[in-house]
Amino acid sequence: MIVAGTRPEAIKLAPVIWSLEKLGVDYVFVWSGQHYDYEMSRVFFNQLGLPDPDLDLDVRSGSHAEQTARIMIGVEKAIIDYKPSIVVAQGDTNTTLASALASVKSLTPFAHVEAGLRSWDRTMPEEVNRVVADSIAELNFAPTWLAAVNLMHSGVPLKKIYVTGNTIVDVVYKYKDLVVEWGEKLLGEYKLEPGNYALVTIHRQENTDNQWRLENIVKALIELSKHIPVVFPAHPRTTRRLEAVGLLESLKKNVKLLSPLGYFEFLGLLSKSAIVLTDSGGVQEEACILGIPTLTLRYNTERPETVLAGSNILVGVEPEKVVPIALDMIKRRSEIAKKKGCGNLIGDGTAGEKISKILNKFKDDATIETRDTREDPYIVHVLIDTSENMEDLSVKGEIIAMYDDHGFPTIDINSARKIVIRVAKHCLLTK
Ligand code: UD1
Ligand code: UDP
Repeated sequence: MIVAGTRPEAIKLAPVIWSLEKLGVDYVFVWSGQHYDYEMSRVFFNQLGLPDPDLDLDVRSGSHAEQTARIMIGVEKAIIDYKPSIVVAQGDTNTTLASALASVKSLTPFAHVEAGLRSWDRTMPEEVNRVVADSIAELNFAPTWLAAVNLMHSGVPLKKIYVTGNTIVDVVYKYKDLVVEWGEKLLGEYKLEPGNYALVTIHRQENTDNQWRLENIVKALIELSKHIPVVFPAHPRTTRRLEAVGLLESLKKNVKLLSPLGYFEFLGLLSKSAIVLTDSGGVQEEACILGIPTLTLRYNTERPETVLAGSNILVGVEPEKVVPIALDMIKRRSEIAKKKGCGNLIGDGTAGEKISKILNKFKDDATIETRDTREDPYIVHVLIDTSENMEDLSVKGEIIAMYDDHGFPTIDINSARKIVIRVAKHCLLTK
C-alpha cells in the first residue's frame, strides 16, 4: 500500500509506482488528501502518469494533531480493508507520520522512502515526523550514505537500511529535456528572459508562521526585484499568511506572484532561472541536480549534500545577507552550473527501481521485529573489534553501527574495524 498526500510525495513516489507497475506487483494507492487543491495534487497525477488513487481519504487541513489523527484513522481502516503486506510512505509530512504509526500499530510492516534525513532541529514538524517514521520502519530507504549513517546512529539496525539514492533524481532525469518547452512557454507568457530571473518558493511553517522571518523574506525579495525579475509561485499556506499579516499587496507590486505551478511548468521555469531562493527540500535537490544556484532561506538543511556540491548556500532570511549573496551567486551561475555534482551525490536515477525490487522481495515474508527474550531478557549493545572472532556473537546479535580505522562511521562491512552489536547478555557470557 503506497500512501501519499502532498505535492512532494506524489512527485517522489512516482518512480516507485512506475517500477512497481513494470514489475507487475499488486499495489493499492491511497491519497490522504492532506493536499487537495487541483494544483497541489491532481495535476501531478496527470503529468507524472500516476493512477487515480484507489482511495482518497480527503482529510484536508487542520492542526497537526487533527490532521495526523484523521490520516491515521483513514489509513488504519484502509489496512483493515485491503490487508497489504507492507505500507510505504515517503518523506516527512503528517501523512508520512500517520501512515507509519497506523501501519505498525496494525502489525503491518512500514517502509520509509527518503529515510535518515536530519536537520537536527526538533522545532521543525518535519524533523519530528522523520525521526518517528525512521525509527518504526522495517525498511528504511536512505537516499545517501550520510542519511544511512544518521539512521545507524539513531539505533536502526543495519539490516533495515538500504542506500538507494533519492527518487527525485529519477524524476528530474526523466523530464529535464521535456520541460524545457514548458519553461519557454511560461517565459513568453510572463515576458522573462532565460537566465535572467530569480525563482522563489517559500512554505515552511518556521518561515510563514514567524512574522519576523516572513517580513524579512518579503523585504529581501522586494530588494532583489530591483536587480532582477522575481517570480514566486506561492504555496497556498504562504499566500494566506502574507494576506493575514498585510504583506501580500506590497509583494505583488514588486514580484510576479503566481498560483502553485504544475510540475512541468515549475521544473521548466527552474531549469531556466538565474537563481532559486527557497525553503523547500525538493527544490534544493532539483536545483542541485540541474546546477542552478540556490539560496536556502533557512538556518539548517536536512540536505547537506546540496551544500557540499556547491550549488546551495544556507543563508537565513536577513535581507542584508540574502540580497548580496544572491547577486554574487547569479554572477557565478555558469561556474556553479559546471559543478552539476548533485545527481551523483544524492542518486543515480535508479532509486525507484531499487526500492520497488526490495519491496517486491520483502513483501512475501514481511514481519515486524519481535523478540523472544525468555532465555535472557537483558539486551545490551557491545562494541567489538573485528579482529576478535565475532562469529558466535553475530549469529545472535544484529549490527547497530560500524566504524572504520579512523573512528568514522561506515556502512561498508569491509572497512569496519569496530562494530556495535545488539545482543543478549547471556550470549556474551557463554562466549
Ligand atoms: C506540508 C508538510 C511539509 C511539506 C509541504 C509540501 C507537514 C507537517 N508539512 O506542509 O513538510 O514540505 O506539505 O508542500 O506535513 N492548503 C490549501 N490547499 C491545499 C493544501 C494546503 O489551501 O491543497 C493550505 C491550507 O490553508 C493549510 C495550509 O495550506 O492549512 C498548510 O497545509 P498543510 O498540508 O497542513 O501543510 P503544508 O504547509 O502544505
Ligand atoms: N513544485 C511544483 N510547483 C510549484 C512549486 C514546487 O511542482 O509551484 C514541486 C517542486 O518541483 C518539488 C516539489 O514541488 O519537486 C517540492 O514540494 P514542496 O516545496 O511543497 O515540499 P518539500 O519538498 O519542501 O517537502
